[in-house]
Amino acid sequence: MLGAWARGGWRAVRRCASLPRAVRLRVRDALGAREPAEAVRVQGWVRSVRSQKEVLFLHINDGSSLEHLQVVADSSLENKLVCLKDLTFGSAVEVQGKLVKSPHRMQNMELQAETIRVVGPCDIWSFPLKMKERHPLEYVRQFPHLRCRNNTLGSLLRIRSEATAAIHSFFQDNGYVHIHTPIITSNDCEGAGELFQIEASSEVRESAEKTHFFNVPAFLTVSGQLHLEVMAGAFTHVFTFGPTFRAENSQSRRHLAEFYMVEAELSFTESLQDIMQVMEDLFKTVTSTVLSKCPRDVELFHKYVSPAQKDRLEQILKNKFVTITYSEAVEILKQASQTFTFKPEWGCDLQTEHEKYLVKHCGEVPVFVINYPYDLKPFYMRDNEDGPQHTVAAVDLLVPGIGELCGGSLREERLPFLESRLQRLGLADAYQWYLDLRKFGSVPHGGFGMGFERYLQYILGVDNIKDVIPFPRFSHSCLL
Ligand code: 4AD
Ligand code: MG
Repeated sequence: MLGAWARGGWRAVRRCASLPRAVRLRVRDALGAREPAEAVRVQGWVRSVRSQKEVLFLHINDGSSLEHLQVVADSSLENKLVCLKDLTFGSAVEVQGKLVKSPHRMQNMELQAETIRVVGPCDIWSFPLKMKERHPLEYVRQFPHLRCRNNTLGSLLRIRSEATAAIHSFFQDNGYVHIHTPIITSNDCEGAGELFQIEASSEVRESAEKTHFFNVPAFLTVSGQLHLEVMAGAFTHVFTFGPTFRAENSQSRRHLAEFYMVEAELSFTESLQDIMQVMEDLFKTVTSTVLSKCPRDVELFHKYVSPAQKDRLEQILKNKFVTITYSEAVEILKQASQTFTFKPEWGCDLQTEHEKYLVKHCGEVPVFVINYPYDLKPFYMRDNEDGPQHTVAAVDLLVPGIGELCGGSLREERLPFLESRLQRLGLADAYQWYLDLRKFGSVPHGGFGMGFERYLQYILGVDNIKDVIPFPRFSHSCLL
């Protein structure tokens, strides 16, 4: 693999230890350096190896940027290389040398190697990723434990990390208190029964005895909302951003069994518009931050995964999101020339095909749909007290290509309304604590949740939700 350069007879001699300890730089910092530097040390994984007569070129990457750092090793490196045969694509290396201006137009700096140490060799024949190949997302999905070493997944994970930080900053900058809501809970916030139940493994084995570890049935949370509402009784603005779990059929391209949800709750809020404004501001602020902080990573998606998404996104950031009522949405669907598998009727849930049509009808932009039928939505949503078509103050944000990105509502803060609804559902006993919140200093309030993976899918134009999560193994009802 190393050709003429290798055949030149470089000997493996362990002399690295005698060199002065150099300053450790990340690839990103090395590439962005303004000035040359002596005695620099860079660690990472080899992305390409090319030999030319007396010179060896390596590209190394340490996950800090999409771009690789070029390492140039010339004959002055003689006698300083350890285990040359191990210097292959995929191997882990530590390179020490001088950071110099690169003569190449495409890169600012390169590293002139004085020593190269192979820290961890890589068997290129069995390593599923191949040098300089653009592996499709479907291919790397087969190797969940190795795919983070692929450019596309590397970019995705950096964007995911940056978006996470931007979400926290957005809320912190706007005076929200971050709350760690529990993962294990006895509530089914959405009332849809899509729960994973928790038991100690010994109890599962002895299930005939029907004991529960917590004395009551406990589940993985489907939403942190009810716990956030508790906190919204003491802090006017709270948010949470954590894992949520749904035992729903996750074979679709936008459903996961385990996903991250961003949720916010605002007290002293009487208007659904205020909640929608926070949703829109969150989306726009976080997206602008991601675009400005990871331009090259986002560009990779907008170039190879979803061409034209960049322009669409820029337009969306400039314009106000559209708002229609659920009743208007049903009318639009009824008048559509398209025939739907599910006939649109007032009182029925909007199906994916309906959501897609509505978004298209409104110009392929994000669309808020508000005021859904009372009977369609969970017990906590505020009664609009209208008729004959009875609705609640609910909002879903629909986006092109994905459908529902956020769901939110005003909450029913009036004790008699909430009590009678819970009684009708046979839930009044279980939710006594929730009713208490309406007895002691209840205020109008509302909030929303945004699916983080769907958000990433949308801004990057990724078709399959499996490709925006770090570890896909248990995220779906069928294992990868
Ligand atoms: O609309 P949902 O069910 O709303 C709630 O859970 C509210 N309690 C949130 C709140 O008001 N605090 O879920 C919110 C969002 C959806 O709009 C969707 O983006 C995402 O969570 N989501 C999923 N994402 C991936 N896989 C799934 N199975 C999802 N289910 C919901
Ligand atoms: Mg929803």
